[in-house]
Amino acid sequence: MSNNKRQLVLNVFLQRFGHHPAGWRHPSSTDNGRPDLAWWLKAARLAEAAKFDTFFIADFIGRSGKITPDTGRSGASYQFEPFTLLSAIAAVTKHIGLVATVNTNYDHPYHLARKMTSLDHLSGGRAGWNVVSSFGDHTAKNFGLKEPRSHAERYERAEEFVELTKALWNSWDDDAFDHPDRAAGQFYDPQSAHPVNFEGKYYSSEGLLDFPRPIQGYPVFVQAGNSETGREFAARVAEMTYCSATSLGVAQAYYADVKGRMAKYGRSEDQLKITPGLSVVVAESDQEAQDRFGELQDLVDFSNLEFGGFDLSQYPLDGPLPDLPYQSGENGKGRFQQQLELARRENLTIRQLVLRFRVARGHLQAIGSVKTVADLIEQWFAERGADGFNVVPPYLPQGFEDFTRLVVPELQRRGIFRTEYQGKTYRENLGLDRPGNPNTVQKLQRAAA
Ligand SMILES: Cc1cc2nc3c(=O)[nH]c(=O)nc-3n(C[C@H](O)[C@H](O)[C@H](O)COP(=O)(O)O)c2cc1C
Repeated sequence: MSNNKRQLVLNVFLQRFGHHPAGWRHPSSTDNGRPDLAWWLKAARLAEAAKFDTFFIADFIGRSGKITPDTGRSGASYQFEPFTLLSAIAAVTKHIGLVATVNTNYDHPYHLARKMTSLDHLSGGRAGWNVVSSFGDHTAKNFGLKEPRSHAERYERAEEFVELTKALWNSWDDDAFDHPDRAAGQFYDPQSAHPVNFEGKYYSSEGLLDFPRPIQGYPVFVQAGNSETGREFAARVAEMTYCSATSLGVAQAYYADVKGRMAKYGRSEDQLKITPGLSVVVAESDQEAQDRFGELQDLVDFSNLEFGGFDLSQYPLDGPLPDLPYQSGENGKGRFQQQLELARRENLTIRQLVLRFRVARGHLQAIGSVKTVADLIEQWFAERGADGFNVVPPYLPQGFEDFTRLVVPELQRRGIFRTEYQGKTYRENLGLDRPGNPNTVQKLQRAAA
């Protein structure tokens, strides 16, 4: 494998029973819904043995208290809190990147800065942060917030949040605590401390972070927004984006658009990895994979059919999707639009739309033999629809085991995916630059002047 050849990025995004809504009902799924650390550790080890870049933990904080007769009919997506889970995973892995989702609406930059640098140090430089700012009604209520925040304000807050966390991470030189002078009784040089004095529109902080700068300088910044504001934020801040596309054309348009916005922020395109979601059912033959997918599709439950804020249960399942104005939160707008366009373009009934789009939440689906799946991955990668993928296995554990056992070796054989980790940190493995500390640079410039 040549070091210079562009390499595919592979992330895995697991939900306890897989991403397919019927994953929890598949005959191979025998677990109950109890949190199970052993299950997660096994999955992380499997991802690392397959040389994945990233073990990604999503977080859609909060839960609605609305109980209806259909409540409880969908697979529980209850999941460990990301930092505690990733800390445990850090202890049993060595190479794989550990990305925690943190919502900027429900945390404080100081709190986040110390948790993230802790994770980075205890994993030996493998932390990443999926910066999200979604603001669902029920989550706001869980946190006692009554006033909805506008989409624009949420992104403005997120920008300021990131700016302050960077300032806090930069409040110490990288080597501040590396040279304790025992003879002189000087533990660290006061010149290596750079107190923060931040007064923003939404957040303020004064003082020093109570932990050393992250090993990686900053954690790897991940972002998953798709709106105009979200794309601009990605171009300015993100080093990896999660996105969704079902056709290569849509993926290429997103790829070119977001990367094309980077130059004005002085960033080069290779400093952002674009990784759309990919749902795979792979088997020895195309037919076998289709049959297995069919088993899942047969188990789909059509209750709880919410669409853009409307309950679809009053409309016939085998009739067309009715014309309904969008009535839900800002975050679901993109997905609503994608579904509406697909249903209209292909004249789909409600049932067909669910079976086409919802079962993979709008992500690319690859169902087939190893060759079918690998060809699709290679094509999207080569034709710049993606730098890699965020693998979202539809059912578990087999869905992910099959991917690592069958697809990964084929990608390695084709020379587009690593056979060994090359770097020490998550950044190094992704080929991302390590951000220096601007305060240290200024200090050295002052000293040299
Ligand atoms: C693969 C993927 C993973 C995501 N993970 C999360 C998550 O864990 N938590 C969350 O609140 N939002 C998550 N989102 C939603 C995005 O953060 C964002 O809110 C959404 O894409 C809408 O983008 P916009 O705010 O720019 O309109 C995810 C989106 C994608 C495509």
